[in-house]
Amino acid sequence: MDKFIINGKRKLSGKVKISGAKNSCLALMPATLLTEGTNVIRNAPEVNDTYTMIKLLKELGAGITFENFELQIDTSKITSQVAPYEHVKKMRASVYVLGPLLAKYGYAKVSMPGGCAWGPRPVNLHLEAMEKLGANIEIEGGYIIANAPKLKGANINFDISSVGATGNALMAAVLAKGTTKITNAAIEPEIVHLEEYLVSMGAKIDGIGTNTLIIEGVDELHPAEIENIPDRIEASTLLIAGAITKSKITIEYPFANHIEAVIRKLESSGVVIDKANGELTIDARDLEIRATDVTTSVYPGFPTDMQAQWTAYMTLADGTSTITDNIYLDRFKHVPELNRLGADIEVRNNSAIVKGVKKLTGAKVMSTDLRASASLVLAGLAAEGTTEILRIYHLDRGYQRIEEKLQSLGADIKRVPTEEY
Ligand code: UD1
Repeated sequence: MDKFIINGKRKLSGKVKISGAKNSCLALMPATLLTEGTNVIRNAPEVNDTYTMIKLLKELGAGITFENFELQIDTSKITSQVAPYEHVKKMRASVYVLGPLLAKYGYAKVSMPGGCAWGPRPVNLHLEAMEKLGANIEIEGGYIIANAPKLKGANINFDISSVGATGNALMAAVLAKGTTKITNAAIEPEIVHLEEYLVSMGAKIDGIGTNTLIIEGVDELHPAEIENIPDRIEASTLLIAGAITKSKITIEYPFANHIEAVIRKLESSGVVIDKANGELTIDARDLEIRATDVTTSVYPGFPTDMQAQWTAYMTLADGTSTITDNIYLDRFKHVPELNRLGADIEVRNNSAIVKGVKKLTGAKVMSTDLRASASLVLAGLAAEGTTEILRIYHLDRGYQRIEEKLQSLGADIKRVPTEEY
């Protein structure tokens, strides 16, 4: 096990390149199950969730190499349609294999994902979509058992916009017989990227990038290559690293349009952001952080995956801000840890009320989940003295060696092996 030791209050400067998007890669990888042959995904992030998905796909019989951020996934000899508990419990995105396995092989047995550190995360919408497409679904021994000799096109309307359920429904519908219409489909960039990948495999999808998708099922799909998009959450987190340390830094990230909501909020808080030549430069050298409320919502709104980091940032604002999470109502495990660093935050229902303080002071804190860990890193960078962050395996699920990126910007952050838990 590793921990981070951060000596805070260092100014950052310089430029870093943003890694490939975790959430996008986790959707692209299972999509390869729809084909038979060698698929290529470039710019895949070297994060633990990628390795978990590799293990799961290998367990199903896929042959996989992963070198220089390039995944080659050979799906010509799939021998199993069972996604065991050991993988799904580590990563809920494992449920993404349900749609493609069912569509391609007529059967899938996938462990039911449980709750999350921050509360319940149901998969009812995934299952309802599969049933609409004609699958018979049973839950037995903690597993989802789905059967359908041949899926049939259907109308699927999601009551709630769901990234995962849209991805699963799409991956099932592309091989279903006939036409599927998905309404209230998610339009997160990772889903749009999945739509593009499926089309490059031969899928017929109309309405790409919109809430209404019309899918004309085809008999088979062929292997394809794709360049994964960069990670909008990593990009946004590093921009906040620049802001909270009152520094000027540049990130190489050509998809500013994917993080408009975060950029707008950062500007409201007082920083200047310059966009040019595929780079974003944040200048926060004279910043007095203005208290800025955020409310999370589906894309293109402010992402729930940035809520914890924004909360960390607002701890040092001038005034009180309210941060409301409308996607995950209980996602506030970072709050007690931020308070240990001297923050003044109170959780009321699904909001964090953050009273800005003059300073944070280093302490020992514990990661509880992926984005909570990132919020602690940000707070540690701005805190006086030394912050130790335990259980950073959470962070390693989704950020590719973030300490190296921060070190290259001048932060004093070290990864140290530890027995502490
Ligand atoms: C994905 C992202 C995650 C992000 C989330 C919201 C991946 C691998 N993960 O998760 O990082 O925080 O989107 O942007 O891409 N819901 C149901 N029933 C379901 C499915 C979802 O009620 O069957 C609810 C959820 O509880 C939540 C909302 O729908 O309130 C949105 O969740 P969803 O978009 O499905 O999140 P994930 O795909 O799991």
